Amino acid sequence: MDTQLKRRISSIATQLEKVLEQTFQSAPLEGEVFRAPRLLEAMRYASLAGGKRLRPVLLVEVAGLFGRSDNGIYQAAAALECIHCYSLVHDDLPAMDDDELRRGRPTTHVAFDEATAILAGDALLTIAFDLITEDAVHEDAKVRLSLGRSLSRASGVGGMAGGQMLDLESEHRDRSEAEIRRLQAMKTGALIRYACQAGAILGDATEEEVARLTRFGEIVGLAFQLADDLLDLKGDAEVVGKATGKDAEAGKATLVSLLGEDATRNELEKLIAEAETLLAPFGERAAVLKQLADYIANRDS
Ligand code: IPE
Ligand code: IPE
Ligand code: MG
Ligand code: MG
Ligand code: MG
Repeated sequence: MDTQLKRRISSIATQLEKVLEQTFQSAPLEGEVFRAPRLLEAMRYASLAGGKRLRPVLLVEVAGLFGRSDNGIYQAAAALECIHCYSLVHDDLPAMDDDELRRGRPTTHVAFDEATAILAGDALLTIAFDLITEDAVHEDAKVRLSLGRSLSRASGVGGMAGGQMLDLESEHRDRSEAEIRRLQAMKTGALIRYACQAGAILGDATEEEVARLTRFGEIVGLAFQLADDLLDLKGDAEVVGKATGKDAEAGKATLVSLLGEDATRNELEKLIAEAETLLAPFGERAAVLKQLADYIANRDS
């Protein structure tokens, strides 16, 4: 990765982690009774060490196009990252993908136990809505409300969780290309789309700009999962930080399994070109987003 992009990502990650640290403080908030120490520890474990932080980075970079980079942006980014981390904790459970390695460390249910991992996921999911409705996120309460609603939709039955359901139901089953694209747009695409859409809304972008950046998020989201599926097939587990070869073993329906590796790489190239076209009106301001899209498609972890 380009060193400048690396520095940019790591500076956003540091700022994001400050918000997460604060979110997982041990003192209860108003309306809470007590923060169960073991649950808090599991939530911290699942969200504080490692991770590429690509969803927060996309949200922050898109908001940055419109000149916003205050702490409220990081609270929104932290809300999204909490949902992502919860999705990983549950995705790794024995009842789902049954994985023992995540971000180069034992998965949460291995480091703690299954019940704790399930609860950590529940609590990460719910705390996201605490974060997204913080006053600092946007001065207009209507905007905060609408961002909370779209976060719920991106995460739930018609988004990530629904996509995970379709993914599990597709194991060892024939699925058409359209069906696979739809499930991927849900399980992975919805949160990445949200990152870009929310960044634009938080930056008070025009309707046309929000639509353009939301489409950018959809394309990057699909590219993201194609790259993930290629990494599962070809990646080095040491570098990727999670087990590889699992999709074929579990009979997952992926575009890589349906179309093959070469066609998937061609599709990735096309998607990146389309993403760049969508960013063209923003000119140089979108240089980092362009680089990010390229990195997401060609990453090795
Ligand atoms: C992995 O997401 C799960 C998918 C949606 C494919 P990431 O590759 O963003 O995981 P981290 O956050 O960097 O660990
Ligand atoms: C998971 O997709 C997407 C989520 C909603 C977590 P995968 O099952 O392919 O993710 P990895 O490969 O375990 O990270
Ligand atoms: Mg999975
Ligand atoms: Mg998995
Ligand atoms: Mg995968």
